[in-house]
Amino acid sequence: ETNKTFTMIKPDAVANGHTGAILDQIIKGGFKITAMKYLWLTPEKAGQFYAVHAARPFYNDLVAFMSSGPIVAAILEKDNAVEDFRKLIGATDPAKAEPGTIRNLFAKSIDANAVHGSDSDENAKIEGDFYFSAFEKF
Ligand code: CMP
Repeated sequence: ETNKTFTMIKPDAVANGHTGAILDQIIKGGFKITAMKYLWLTPEKAGQFYAVHAARPFYNDLVAFMSSGPIVAAILEKDNAVEDFRKLIGATDPAKAEPGTIRNLFAKSIDANAVHGSDSDENAKIEGDFYFSAFEKF
């Protein structure tokens, strides 16, 4: 499904009241929201989601941060969704994110970086399926 990607608005951005502004940028960027939910991950669930990073030095901090408060998870649809969404959000490290990108505008640090975006079509499908049942997405 090359026309879909998956995103999370992370605990920092939700806590700082940026959810509405970020969704607005996503919609104005030409993405259609095809599934969305607001939830608070347990450390176990956050660890499962980021299992691919389990061997990385930042894993424990990442899991603690992602379970520190509520998030918004969503599946987004657009032509060339994965690549275009990564352009819209900017570099992982907000200090390196282009002006006007979501991370440039709203992120504080490489951990508290406001949003997640899938890095491939394959991961977009895996990540969307982690949060949404067949009944919840279309
Ligand atoms: P995300 O796209 O959600 O995927 C993994 C997250 O790990 C990443 O965003 C960052 O928030 C976080 N992270 C912390 N340190 C690093 C790092 N050195 N390289 C990549 N990601 C990092």
